Amino acid sequence: MKKILIATEKPFAKSSVDGISKIVTDAGYEIVLLENYTEKAQLLKAVEHVNAIIIRSDKIDKEVIDAASKLEVAVRAGAGYDNVDLEAATAKNVVVMNTPGQNSNAVGELAIGLMLYAARNFFNGSSGTELRGKTLGLYALGNTAKYLSKAAQGLGMEVYAYAPTKDDRYLQAENVKRANSPEELFEKCRYVSLHIPLKPETKEIITYELLSLMPKNATLVNTARREVINEDGLLKMFAARKDFKYVSDIQPAKKEAIDNVCDNRMYCTPKKMGAQTAEANINAGIAAANQIVGLFKNGDRTFQVNK
Ligand code: 3PG
Repeated sequence: MKKILIATEKPFAKSSVDGISKIVTDAGYEIVLLENYTEKAQLLKAVEHVNAIIIRSDKIDKEVIDAASKLEVAVRAGAGYDNVDLEAATAKNVVVMNTPGQNSNAVGELAIGLMLYAARNFFNGSSGTELRGKTLGLYALGNTAKYLSKAAQGLGMEVYAYAPTKDDRYLQAENVKRANSPEELFEKCRYVSLHIPLKPETKEIITYELLSLMPKNATLVNTARREVINEDGLLKMFAARKDFKYVSDIQPAKKEAIDNVCDNRMYCTPKKMGAQTAEANINAGIAAANQIVGLFKNGDRTFQVNK
């Protein structure tokens, strides 16, 4: 009987785990659960005899792939798969998939919450500002950015996107205006929200030069990945611009140094929480389980990312 492991350092809601288990057992497979693990050794042991794994931001490197000698498929229940060593997986014929769109609304809603928190001066008692009538710039226009855009427009924001791979019809359907370059996006928008995946070509692309173009009272929102920001540039921006705020779902590596210069104008969630809702857990977890069953029963590789 094939074994399917759920390996989550940051667990899904129980309702999601129950849903995944039902799909797996109804299909005639066995579920194995490793939640809240703290040591890599626990993961290495858990993967030994399984045919499939469902993960979140859990790091699946070459050592984990090598330890999983029966592994056929790894599904990242979520969007970004920068935590999986695709080369190592491909070398062992392991199919890697993600579940695009399934947790996007949750992340989009968190971005709204972070923007409101910044706009109200982190509830420090002073008069804040409203989002209505302000400009929001989306760096990329995938699933999360689209949910964020709809909510922001509902609040009366004017939305721009830098999305060079999307055509005009796509932007028009979202009622989003095009920024032709990152520079134009940062220049035009008081709020900029990042929605780029982490790849070698997106590493540290958010520089001081870009940030310094932002209008007065600017806020940068990062629910993407820590590594897309050049943290020395962020530090320089805080030092140079006393009106600038940064809100994020990921703690910077240089948090202490930034804390020393930012005068409480930065807020980062203590843990990555964007996709941590019951709804997102259910959507992404169940999609992952269905994709594994689809692959085992019908050879369906629709969401494979290591082709
Ligand atoms: C994603 O890429 O799907 C999000 O960053 C959510 O990640 P998480 O499942 O670790 O919360």
